[in-house]
Amino acid sequence: MIRLFVPKEIAAGERRVAATPETVKKYVKAGLEVVVEAGAGEGSSIVDSRYAEAGAMVVADAKGAWAEADLVVKVSVPSTAEVARMKAGAVLVSFMAPHRNLDVVRKLADARVTSLAMELVPRTTRAQTMDALSSQANIAGYKAVLLAATRLGKYFPLLMTAAGTVPPAKVVIMGAGVAGLQAIATAKRLGAVVEVSDVRAAAKEQVESLGGKFIELPMQESGDGAGGYAKEMSEDFLRKQREIVMQHLAKADVVICTALVPGRKAPILVSDEALKVMRPGAVVVDLAVTEGGNCTQSKADQEVTWNGVHILAPSNLAGSMAEDASVVYSRNVLALVLNFVKDGALALDLGDEINAGSLLTHEGKVTHAATAGLMG
Ligand code: NAI
Repeated sequence: MIRLFVPKEIAAGERRVAATPETVKKYVKAGLEVVVEAGAGEGSSIVDSRYAEAGAMVVADAKGAWAEADLVVKVSVPSTAEVARMKAGAVLVSFMAPHRNLDVVRKLADARVTSLAMELVPRTTRAQTMDALSSQANIAGYKAVLLAATRLGKYFPLLMTAAGTVPPAKVVIMGAGVAGLQAIATAKRLGAVVEVSDVRAAAKEQVESLGGKFIELPMQESGDGAGGYAKEMSEDFLRKQREIVMQHLAKADVVICTALVPGRKAPILVSDEALKVMRPGAVVVDLAVTEGGNCTQSKADQEVTWNGVHILAPSNLAGSMAEDASVVYSRNVLALVLNFVKDGALALDLGDEINAGSLLTHEGKVTHAATAGLMG
């Protein structure tokens, strides 16, 4: 019988958990034995007794549980010390941010751990239920707008009051992927006027369908890269984009930055020059900070006030809404695991595009080509 272990997350500020009582029940039904570290659900308001009721064994000895597990499910990138606890041949499913954690990837390969990275799950129709990038980005986009609305010293909606009319807030959103689209929807619900910049051809229609105004760019080069993602634009293009966007930033009350290019540093879209023309009291929320940020003055998990503009750069917004983040993340992990567990046994078919695409390390090797390339 496969023994699945759900550890308590140890990364600073990580409140999510990789399995909930709902998914534990489904693992048990699929013939797995589930072990949960005591306190694992605490940050997501799930008490240990609920895991026990769902059929898990709750243990205080994490070290032993790591060593005995055939399969470990996690949220945050594992530490090298956590990997060192695993037995050879065991499987790990987690976010890995492999390009930023080459030491961990090396350790996984050396320890002969088979690892599947949630970031590498292909963005295909069949893998939609496993798409943790989307489920977590959706939360981040929503929460970014709430954070900005709370920090801003102004209303979001247009108000007509006895004391006169208050104009609606102007929100500019950089990047209309999953987080950006949810940010548009959330800002619109709060009554703001929303403008959006993106470089992919499909983005314009999606932005407009949510009631946002698309900022037109001179697209001499296509922004469409592989797999529905954006490609890295030339420095010349980005300079022109910054010039055009700056006119919109000058009038903005809030800027939400979500622009990313897979495996690359995030593009700079809010430069010092832009911050200088923005109005004092405006708020920037930079979700791209984990990849270097879209704003020059972003500092991870700090608030910086620069020329009167407040710049927030939270690195784990999904984790700040841990209850729902854990619910949807756990379902993504369950769907991925059940794709390689058959009749209660591990059956990792590498002919399956989801298993093969998500695989980071296997049998002592780094199987993900881009990561292997970075490692030389
Ligand atoms: P992401 O997190 O990699 O990037 C966020 C956004 O930043 C993207 O829309 C990208 O075009 C934009 N961006 C990059 N450079 C920019 C620049 N210089 N200026 C402005 N914006 C810039 O993207 P995410 O959210 O992961 O989504 C990527 C794509 O995948 C989207 O087209 C999305 O609709 C698609 N998708 C497809 C799914 C499926 O078919 N199952 C599931 C989820 C997403």
